Amino acid sequence: MVKMLQYCFLIVSTIILGCTFSSSSNDSADSVRNSSEKLQDTMSYDINDTQNIQSKSDSLGPNSSDSSKSIVRKTSSNRDVRKVSGAPQYSLKDAYRNYFPIGAAVLPNQINNSKIANLITTQFSSITAANDMKPTYLQPKEGVFNFNVGDKIVSFATKNNMKVRGHTLVWPRKMPKWFYYSQGKAVGKDLLLKRIETHVNTVVQHYKGKTYCWDVVNEAIPFFGPNPLDSNKDSLYIIAGEEYFDKAFYVARKADPNAKLFYNDNGFEWKKKRDRIFEYLKKAKARGVPIDGVGMQGHWGIDGISEAYLRETIKMFSSIGLEVQITELDISIYPIRSSGKVMKAADLKSTSDAYTEQIQTKQAQIYSMIFRVCREMKGQVTGITLWSPYDWANYLTKRMGKKNYPYLFDENLQPKKSFHDVVNF
Ligand code: XIL
Repeated sequence: MVKMLQYCFLIVSTIILGCTFSSSSNDSADSVRNSSEKLQDTMSYDINDTQNIQSKSDSLGPNSSDSSKSIVRKTSSNRDVRKVSGAPQYSLKDAYRNYFPIGAAVLPNQINNSKIANLITTQFSSITAANDMKPTYLQPKEGVFNFNVGDKIVSFATKNNMKVRGHTLVWPRKMPKWFYYSQGKAVGKDLLLKRIETHVNTVVQHYKGKTYCWDVVNEAIPFFGPNPLDSNKDSLYIIAGEEYFDKAFYVARKADPNAKLFYNDNGFEWKKKRDRIFEYLKKAKARGVPIDGVGMQGHWGIDGISEAYLRETIKMFSSIGLEVQITELDISIYPIRSSGKVMKAADLKSTSDAYTEQIQTKQAQIYSMIFRVCREMKGQVTGITLWSPYDWANYLTKRMGKKNYPYLFDENLQPKKSFHDVVNF
């Protein structure tokens, strides 16, 4: 009964909030995004990597036009009423206040749209720039730092009392192209290390005191192969060996001693990869590299991740003195793997994209298990970030060529079953 009343309350309040909106323009955000996209397009050198290009066709979802003046006041007064009546709180950030920050990765045009911005500020306590603090965006040409969009995201966060998770300083296969060359030839080790130092130092100092943590190195450890770090074509590892990894952490620590420094990666659901990451970080810590935490990206699917394995993984990293955060969580409505193999776009061709009741329920069960485990392991787990505030799933759609619904709020910014299951505990 209580649950039903809470549910009705939420539906009524979201309808009221939805009705307060009116439209206005988003031009400046779009032009910022478009110029970033152009930049990214010209920088892109890995033609197989669709993730590296932000498409011009990205939209914010069907019902996301700009608006609303009174939403903040209404939401906060509603929340006060709930608090007085002793009912559970209905925002992620309130529900998790005593646990850890709940974050969302954002695009600049999302924070410039008042309706989406309102969802972000009322629900989340932390922000990550989905793209705008990546090396290709921040230093598109050697010595030319472009903090413009990143600064806007950070000042939005500061104004709204939100934390900022910095993402990312060094991403081996996705540094700007110039990083790897000097006068038309492959860059030497010394110059490459110097460039890493300059980039990390400049960026971390610029955001000093504003970013509470940084993904210092992203996706550096391979799934397979003999080398401890990735050795794909153009990799920093080929040129500078493991030194680049250590350097990035040492420089970041010096530039902002108060920022928590993370190693961030995907594929923790694969035992082999998880164990490789574990061994690497254990050794790096043993040689004194200042790493405070590990970020599990958490791009998972409807085939889920087992509770026992998730607990074991958190415990493992925590046992070597690392905080654990889930940094890019989304639960795709499709499986990530089939018979042990990673699904490719072609494997999903004949799969229906219907977002059925059954899939919604399954997805909510996975979300609620992940959040419960993280709550129960608070202290070891220090944050969860969703890779979008709502079902804007362009990144997944592009990768798999199928419409997706991976987050806690739908395309109209309404809470989904997963949201209810995550906040009602
Ligand atoms: C993705 C963004 O979401 C896309 O918009 C962009 O086109 C490519 O990058 N791992 C990461 C994130 O660490 O930075 C990636 O973000 C997703 C995979």
